[in-house]
Amino acid sequence: MDVIHSVAGLRERLQQVPNNVFVPTMGNLHAGHIQLINIAKPRAACTVVSIFVNRLQFGPREDFERYPRTLEADCEKLRAAGVDVVFAPDEKEIYPDPQTYVVEPSDLQHILDGAVRPGHFRGVSTVVLKLFNMVSPHSAIFGKKDYQQCLVLANMVRQLALPIEIILAETVRADDGLALSSRNAYLTETERREAPRLYEQLCLARDELTKGARDYQRIELDVMAALAHHGWKPDYISVRRQSDLQPPTNGERRLVVLAAARLGKTRLIDNIEANL
Ligand code: PAF
Repeated sequence: MDVIHSVAGLRERLQQVPNNVFVPTMGNLHAGHIQLINIAKPRAACTVVSIFVNRLQFGPREDFERYPRTLEADCEKLRAAGVDVVFAPDEKEIYPDPQTYVVEPSDLQHILDGAVRPGHFRGVSTVVLKLFNMVSPHSAIFGKKDYQQCLVLANMVRQLALPIEIILAETVRADDGLALSSRNAYLTETERREAPRLYEQLCLARDELTKGARDYQRIELDVMAALAHHGWKPDYISVRRQSDLQPPTNGERRLVVLAAARLGKTRLIDNIEANL
């Protein structure tokens, strides 16, 4: 496995490779990332993983500074998973100049997580487009835990006609249902015991939808109240259409319930699809 820090070194390493599949990450890798790699590996001659904590997608009061940076341990996991190339650039390599050209990802950037984290999806789209231009993958894999991010990036690829296949992978969960996330490391022991409630509540909401409930607002408010009762501060709980994350019309059969809520100092997001 080659660990490469420069764009020039990356391009040279990938020059002779017939095709590559790409897994962009911010590091602090867990079993969810390893699943993305397992999906990636059989798809191309070369599997490339990037590790870059992207300042552009963090708000001024968010956790950019304390985001866990664990390159050595990450590389051990990636070597064991059979990755061919790790691209671990520093900030100057990705942003040699202030980034004045950016990707503005349509209306999707202003709803749900975009409403709570202004500029977040602009930052994500901009860095992913840059990484795509550096890696030139024929396909790229993203996890559905970041459901809105998946849609934003799939739309970017479609609208900008990038020759890249986007593959979406199911969320990996701990045995108690908590979606794996690097941010779970921020939870105290007590919060970690409480954290699976988010997914439990999403499952209840999904079950109501599959049994025929259509009062979306009541379902959202019930989940909010249950979480608030146990000390959570929900940012949103929202039943949306899978296709574009807009509020569903009544005949809609492919729904997703999305949630973001704070538990202590940690903000967790999760979602569940409901196919009626
Ligand atoms: O999902 C993430 O880890 C990040 O948003 C990504 C896609 C690597 C861009 O920085």
